[in-house]
Parts: sequence; structure tokens; C-alpha cells
Amino acid sequence: MTESTRRAVVFGAGGAGLAAVLTACASYGSPTTEAVVDPAEEPAGDEASSAAPKKKAKAPKALADISDIPSGGGKIFESQKLVITQPTEGEFKAFSATCTHQGCTVASVSNGVINCPCHGSQFKIEDGSVAQGPAGEPLAEKKINVSGGKIRLA
Ligand code: FES
Repeated sequence: MTESTRRAVVFGAGGAGLAAVLTACASYGSPTTEAVVDPAEEPAGDEASSAAPKKKAKAPKALADISDIPSGGGKIFESQKLVITQPTEGEFKAFSATCTHQGCTVASVSNGVINCPCHGSQFKIEDGSVAQGPAGEPLAEKKINVSGGKIRLA
């Protein structure tokens, strides 16, 4: 193999590589085609796409059963950052579980108050108002729906 032949081979390979890169770029350069194709395929794919449409169509997932919430007390839902209380039998309230003092997540409900573990703030289960500082603002109330024994965010 002569030097010039070797160069030709190397150049040829480089050219092919460049062509591949350009082809890849060209396919990235037409996202509208892909976007149109994906939704069109979804209804046809029974197994793969069945979960997504169900989530959209259904009402919000229940946070809790009413039986989960003690009367005169409440329960913390840490992952949802919510506290649900039942100040009086059959009356349910929901509040943000983020303490208005410095943002800790409240940790427990006892003796009619929601307790923040960080600096000892307490909030009333009836309306989330401050029962004891240092927090100066009430917990934000969240709207909920109670039906069929289930509690959902409204
Ligand atoms: S963050 Fe709750 S009392 Fe300070």
C-alpha cells in the first residue's frame, strides 16, 4: 500500500464518518415529524400507553380514607407536604405541611395542634392558625373534596 492509497482510505473513512454525523443531525433537525408521529401512535399501542391516558382521565388520586384521620387530630402526609385534620367528627381540613417559620415540614399532630419539630411552632388543627410561635403566619389551607369515604385535593 502506497502512502497516497493509505491517505485515500483514511479520507474515505473520515468522509463516511462525516456523512453519518450529518445524517444524524438531519434527523434531529426534524422534530416536528417525530412529534407528530408519537401521539398518533399512542392510541394504537394498547399496553405501553394505557397508563398515561388513565392518569389524565381520572379524578385526582385519593389522599386518604376518612378513617385514616383521627377525630380531634390529624395526619401528616409527608410526600404530599400536607396535613389533614378532623377538628370535629366528620369535618376535614387540609393544610400545607410546610412550616411558615423557616420551612420545615411539620411532624406530628397532638392535643389539637400541628407541631413543627424545628423550633416548636404549633398550629391549630381547626384553621392552621398559630397556636405557638415562633411562626407568625398560619399554615396555608388547601381545598379538599370528601366523598365516598375518600379525601382528595379539590
Ligand atoms: S421552621 Fe417550624 S418552627 Fe421554625
